[in-house]
Amino acid sequence: MSDLSTSRRGFLAAGVASALPFVARGKDSPEDALTILHLTDIHIRPELDAPQRCTRILRAIRERHPEIGLVINTGDSIYAADYGHITRERMLEQWEIWDKVVMPELEGLPCLHAIGNHDTWWAGPEGDEMRGVPYVCKRLGIERPYGAARHGGWEILWLENSRGSIDAKQQSWLFDSLDALPAAAPVIVASHLPLYSLAGDYAGGNMKGSKPLIDRFAGREGPVVALSGHVHIQSSESIWNIDFHCNGALSGAWWEPGKQGDGSYERTPAGYALLRVWPDGRSECHYHPLPAGS
Ligand SMILES: [Fe+2]
Ligand SMILES: [Fe+2]
Repeated sequence: MSDLSTSRRGFLAAGVASALPFVARGKDSPEDALTILHLTDIHIRPELDAPQRCTRILRAIRERHPEIGLVINTGDSIYAADYGHITRERMLEQWEIWDKVVMPELEGLPCLHAIGNHDTWWAGPEGDEMRGVPYVCKRLGIERPYGAARHGGWEILWLENSRGSIDAKQQSWLFDSLDALPAAAPVIVASHLPLYSLAGDYAGGNMKGSKPLIDRFAGREGPVVALSGHVHIQSSESIWNIDFHCNGALSGAWWEPGKQGDGSYERTPAGYALLRVWPDGRSECHYHPLPAGS
């Protein structure tokens, strides 16, 4: 395994370090860092030995990185429930594997989940309790499809943009949440579709209507790290105070061999990312490709 990408941004550059508590400590004091496991596009499914492979992969990740203190899952947790031909049974079969295979391997770690476009079941009749976003929240154990939490001195906001964009109500919530924070507070924003990514620019898949959000984040004093998936292609970009990391899929080519025969998708191997964040606003994100054939 090797690291595909690294990006680092110092809070000192934002001119707010003097107000923050840990600046005097060693430059890279690992004891100050929170290590976040960023999983995306797990697409768990019964075929292709995916449950057993996923179990092996998650166990190996936890063994290799015992320092992980938080998981952020940016969606497409199950293979696909969204197509018109998907039966209730097929959708439930996928969530059962999620419950039995994926979540037990993350036991003991706090998990934040964003919803992916393939997680929602739309084939059921209007009014069916399993149709649409609320049922996905229930399966993921989240109260509502977007929200906020604080970990490691960072404010973490997760969005629900699985249908391509966010509505006015969610945008107001986001802007109000940001306004309520100190201007220098470091922020992570997690969403299924990238707010922006070169990967999404190349292949399609960036969120529509994200410019006002990006402008709002760029207007902050503190650093912002935007995590996403959906595209299954890894790219990292930085502009102003914002680092965008669209990471590759744990499932690579949906657990299939893919065009290259090694499980990769469009030259991005299946993998996961580790985002380390420090309370003083520094961060670094590394994408860890899985060995071919995992
Ligand atoms: Fe996906
Ligand atoms: Fe997706």
